[in-house]
Amino acid sequence: METKMNIDWANLGFGYLKTDYRFVTNYKDGKWDDGELSTDATITLSESAGVLQYAQTCFEGLKAYRTVDGHVVCFRPDLNAQRMADSCRRLEMPVYPVEKFVEAVEKVVKANIDYVPPYGTGATLYLRPYMFGSNNVIGVKPAEEYQFRIFATPVGPYFKGGAKPITVRISDFDRAAPRGTGHIKAGLNYAMSLHAIVDAHNQGFNENIYLDPATRTKIEETGGANIIFVTKDNKVITPKSNTILPSITRRSLMYVAEHYLGLKAEEREIRLEEVKDFKECALCGTAAVLSPVGKIVDHGKEILLPSGMNEMGEITRKLYDTLTGIQMGRIEAPQGWLKVIE
Ligand code: PLP
Ligand code: COI
Repeated sequence: METKMNIDWANLGFGYLKTDYRFVTNYKDGKWDDGELSTDATITLSESAGVLQYAQTCFEGLKAYRTVDGHVVCFRPDLNAQRMADSCRRLEMPVYPVEKFVEAVEKVVKANIDYVPPYGTGATLYLRPYMFGSNNVIGVKPAEEYQFRIFATPVGPYFKGGAKPITVRISDFDRAAPRGTGHIKAGLNYAMSLHAIVDAHNQGFNENIYLDPATRTKIEETGGANIIFVTKDNKVITPKSNTILPSITRRSLMYVAEHYLGLKAEEREIRLEEVKDFKECALCGTAAVLSPVGKIVDHGKEILLPSGMNEMGEITRKLYDTLTGIQMGRIEAPQGWLKVIE
């Protein structure tokens, strides 16, 4: 199905573009209201709202895709709903029920259907569910009232150049603390990473790789994506850690590696000193999809992945083609991975 929007889909970056409708629901007196679609893209808050004083907020990110045969689908929205519930529990926020979350996602996509980019443009409709404490809080405690919203915005690649390998550095900053909030999608984790990413960009790097905060010897993840490596014997490996976000893309890629590509896939601790022996590296996430890494810089020491700076490595390419093939309906999806919207 063609869309009526006058947007240069193929040249979209990863930015905010206002769309027509967003879902809004409020939590008060211990319950969520029915929620509704709204054309108002703004929020008016009290100066003492919990989110403004103590950053009581968490969010999710997922995408809607137009498939090769003209349907619109979302990728595993139930997993985003579950992860958001985990974030809410850790931040003393009320859970928005999983089924209602998925229904709200569906409503927002349907209401903004003309903003779902046409098949083959490389763009997708990014959905941003988020929740925040909205009533006055001044002593350090959780809010009593909350708002949950979902907006939609069409996006292109997270890293300029799309499939071109990027350069990342080993960061001297930590994004998460041991026993902290690294495993949930709290806004505060991203606030923690802002200085590090600005500094990385100023020094010519695309992203930061964070090490485990307890020993600083193991690979964790980047500011906005998990990491996978391919070993010389073609095993797909990814860090095991309880201070990183459990990426839905990564879980899907590990499944794809094993069940579609017949590769060994393993989640295990990965030491920084092992990285020089790997064949390929890529960042994975909803926004990043699978972005190949060509070079990792560890305090001036350059680790050049054998796959180089020109194109994706062979296994990364197969993973990318299979995952995006599933998302866009070119390859049959495992049961329950695609939520058909229309
Ligand atoms: N890690 C971080 C810190 C992220 O912000 C994201 C993005 O959501 C991911 C990993 C990837 O998670 P997912 O694949 O569920 O989008
Ligand atoms: C996502 O991939 O959905 C993210 O949240 C990463 C980044 C944009 C924060």
